[in-house]
Amino acid sequence: MDTERIQKTSDFMRSELMKLASYGDNTPRMAEYRIEHSFRVANIGAEIASAEGFDVEKTVVACLLHDIGYSVDFKSKEDYRNHGRYGAKIARPFLLSLGFSAEDTEEMCYGIAIHVDDEADFEGERTPFALTVGDADNNDRFDAYRLYEGLHFADYMNLPLDAQTEHAQKTLSKLSRLRELPFGTKTADTMWKEKIDYQTGFFRILLSQAEASRGLIR
Ligand SMILES: [Fe+2]
Ligand SMILES: [Fe+2]
Repeated sequence: MDTERIQKTSDFMRSELMKLASYGDNTPRMAEYRIEHSFRVANIGAEIASAEGFDVEKTVVACLLHDIGYSVDFKSKEDYRNHGRYGAKIARPFLLSLGFSAEDTEEMCYGIAIHVDDEADFEGERTPFALTVGDADNNDRFDAYRLYEGLHFADYMNLPLDAQTEHAQKTLSKLSRLRELPFGTKTADTMWKEKIDYQTGFFRILLSQAEASRGLIR
């Protein structure tokens, strides 16, 4: 899988996403995070591709580029919502320059375009391959790192006990809704359910710890 095209894509993704460093109050770490996330998504994509019989190189390249739209200077929430569609526009000439066929390029771009809100601004098909880009992204978004990040952003440690309980309860009901999210392949769906079940187990324990913190349980 260590092809020249993957290396060129990694370099292109890295240099485009480093532009994030100059945004508003973003720090260089924000760009690094996006790059690291893109590599994780590509690794998840490779796992799905191997299990499903997709072209691994094509999947890895599409996944590496899925958030390339973040290199656009976001001015609004609308820009953020468009980052998949922006990404497809940036990726298209690059993929063609790497020598991918027009057909492969369109399928990869379609996957990139729809990964945020399931909508593209050009014709395409929601093939299992195209859906894999967003599926790999979602699988990274619900892994251990984001579990930590969610608690960090909620400032969990500094919340009063009632608010901690409420946070754990709300997260548990969100997780039970998200468990039923549709995926493009059986492999991605199995991965997803494992991740959701892992987080559910964690938040159940967190909730019972919060309950036990109130006093002695008879
Ligand atoms: Fe994204
Ligand atoms: Fe992403």
